[in-house]
This record gives sequence, C-alpha cells and structure tokens, in this order.
Amino acid sequence: MALVFLLLFLPLSHHSNAMTGCHSDRDKDHRPRVNCTATNLSDVPASIDTTTKVLIFTQNQFSSLTWSSYSHFPELYEIDLSHNAVPEVPLSPGPILPTLGVLRLVGNRIRTLPPHSFRATPGLLELYLDQNILETLDDLSFSGLRLLQILELSQNRISVLPPLMFRSLPAIETLVLEQNHIRTMPDQWFSAKPEVPYTYLSQNPWACFCKRT
Ligand SMILES: *[C@@H]1O[C@H](CO)[C@@H](O)[C@H](O)[C@H]1NC(C)=O
Ligand SMILES: *[C@@H]1O[C@H](CO)[C@@H](O)[C@H](O)[C@H]1NC(C)=O
Repeated sequence: MALVFLLLFLPLSHHSNAMTGCHSDRDKDHRPRVNCTATNLSDVPASIDTTTKVLIFTQNQFSSLTWSSYSHFPELYEIDLSHNAVPEVPLSPGPILPTLGVLRLVGNRIRTLPPHSFRATPGLLELYLDQNILETLDDLSFSGLRLLQILELSQNRISVLPPLMFRSLPAIETLVLEQNHIRTMPDQWFSAKPEVPYTYLSQNPWACFCKRT
C-alpha cells in the first residue's frame, strides 16, 4: 500500500527534468516554479513550460542577461540569476517583461547601471543587486521603477550616492546599502522621499563632519 502511494504520488508532486537537472514545484504563493540551481546552464532551456512564473537559475554559468530569452513566458513573475557571471544589465528601448515583479542578480559582475537600466522590466517590486562590483550609480539608474519597494545594493563598491535617486523611486520602502564605500550622504538625500522606512547603511567608511563645541 505504501509503495503504491509513493509510486503514484512522487511523480506528480515533484516533476523533474532528467536532461537539464531542473525540478518543478510551486513557490509559497503557489506560482509554478522551475528550479535549475547548480545545473551548469548558460542559457534558458527550451524545454521549460511557458506557463512557468518563477525561474531559478542560481549558481550556473550565465554570462549575460538577455531579456528576450524570457519573453516567451507571458506570466513571468520572478527570475533568479544569482551567482552567475552576468557583467551588465542590457539596455532596452522599452518594456519586454511587464509582468516581472522580482529580479535577483546577487553575486554577479555588474559594474555600472547606466540611466534607464530597467526599462525592460517596469513592474519590478523587488530588485536584488548585492555582491556585485558596482562602483557608481546614476540619478536615473532606476528610473521608471515606480512600483519598486525593495532595493538591495549591499556588498558593492559604491562610493558616491546619486543625489536625486529617490525621484525615480516613489514606492521604495527598503533600501540596503551596507558594506559599500560611501563616505558622505548627499545634502537633502531623502527630501524627494522623506519616508524610506527601512534604510540600512552600516559598514561604510562614513566621514563625520560633526561640529564640535
Ligand atoms: C532550488 O533547489 C535547490 C536544490 O537543488 C535548493 O537548495 C533551493 O533551496 C531551491 N530554491 C528554491 C528557491 O526553492
Ligand atoms: C558545463 O558546461 C560546459 C559547456 O557549457 C562544459 O564544457 C563543462 O564540462 C560542463 N561542466 C560540468 C561539470 O558538467
């Protein structure tokens, strides 16, 4: 009886794709997810079901982020390309993945984010860029991300904060800048968005120009 149960139940609950080493399940909100963690991939496998909403490609060999590789997933909500070798976010003339809410690019090789870097993904709610080699940001790096609530930039090499960055981010709630090279805060930095409830700035070489009396 137990054996019959196992034989019937296992293949249904946990599909796996022997060829790519990916497995399918659902995330905590029941979105169809395909998890290809550490499977030596350098491109999106053609065999993945186009109704998938969450794609996990952590610890693979991706050497680029190509928006069009994901455009045949019409309901795509999340891409996780953490711990790959992505050197840049490619510029796009307009939206390509309008349904994308979460983009994870932790632990890649991204050095700069030019103006309008995320025009392909205007619906982002969460963006994770920690553990890259970002040195500079632009006032318009995140322009157009009017819904973005979480921006993670810790463990980069950012030394100067763009003074008008918050003008592009009216919905921001969590900003993480820990472990960077920041020495000073631009004047009035929070004036465009006075309430960013969760701002993390520790472990930077802050210069204190406090007046002593
Ligand atoms: C993906 O699968 C790996 C094991 O292959 C697991 O460690 C990891 O937690 C999974 N990721 C998610 C987001 O479920
Ligand atoms: C990973 O894929 C590359 C080709 O993309 C291949 O040369 C290499 O042997 C593969 N490594 C493993 C561990 O499968």
